[in-house]
Amino acid sequence: MLAFKLDEAYQFTMELAREAGAILRERFGTALTVEQKGPADLVTEADRLSEAHILRRIRERYPDHDILAEESGLQARSGAFRWIIDPLDGTTNFARSLPLFGVSIALEVEGELALGAIYDPMGEELFSAVKGRGAWLNGEPIRVSTVERLEDGLFAMAFPSALRRTPMAQKSLAQFAVFSQRSLGVRRLGTAVLELAYVAAGRLDGYWGLELNAWDMAAGVLVVQEAGGQVSGLDGSPFRLDGRQILASNGRLHPTMVHRLAEAGARDGAALPGQEEGRP
Ligand code: IPD
Ligand code: CA
Ligand code: CA
Repeated sequence: MLAFKLDEAYQFTMELAREAGAILRERFGTALTVEQKGPADLVTEADRLSEAHILRRIRERYPDHDILAEESGLQARSGAFRWIIDPLDGTTNFARSLPLFGVSIALEVEGELALGAIYDPMGEELFSAVKGRGAWLNGEPIRVSTVERLEDGLFAMAFPSALRRTPMAQKSLAQFAVFSQRSLGVRRLGTAVLELAYVAAGRLDGYWGLELNAWDMAAGVLVVQEAGGQVSGLDGSPFRLDGRQILASNGRLHPTMVHRLAEAGARDGAALPGQEEGRP
């Protein structure tokens, strides 16, 4: 195994996130080829260019590290180090010239998240974290919010991408209804990595999503945890990077969020609020 220095890897990760972000920013708003990978799942040439750049730079510097990247899958090498990359999170926003998307790069060492960076190229905001050392926004420390009551909370959620076609649709809509009725509001920003970063920075008090992949969550999980927040499964179970779901919060709201998500889950398959009263 080649010599490895965490501080250098952290500086490298932040540089790389900014470089990939610049590639996206240059192409933002231009005519791009947009392909459909699956139902409601897009990919553009910008996703591929950003990923190619990130992969080339990691390979030059860390030839023996594993890389898991959204568009090219897993390149297995030593097994001790694994980079987890989303070259463009929020592709649908990007493809429609909505300026809310990000690059996400994380590094696992021996199966533990060690560092992460999330870059918003349009807002020029770099969220980053190092395990055990803290989380930062453009170099300034960040903390989660101190909101304690659901009614004072502002949340975001992710619906499954193919909402109309999955049995989870009813559950997601019920979650949206339950939280919308009891909080300041529920946003759907369309970019998991920025939604997690915003929980870490205290802009949102909680976020949850289903059908997510490791590259949507890896860097964000560390940034939230290092900013003093909590992550788990939607039912409060221990978070798993391969678990396809996340509930992230400021910690204080976590038990209440788990409770309300379970309440919404109990409505799974049942009529949504409003329909119960026979309204259209
Ligand atoms: C998507 C975004 C979206 C989430 C989807 C993801 P992509 O990532 O994070 O917010 O709801 O599940 O797939 O495809 O834009 O990288
Ligand atoms: Ca993504
Ligand atoms: Ca992506």
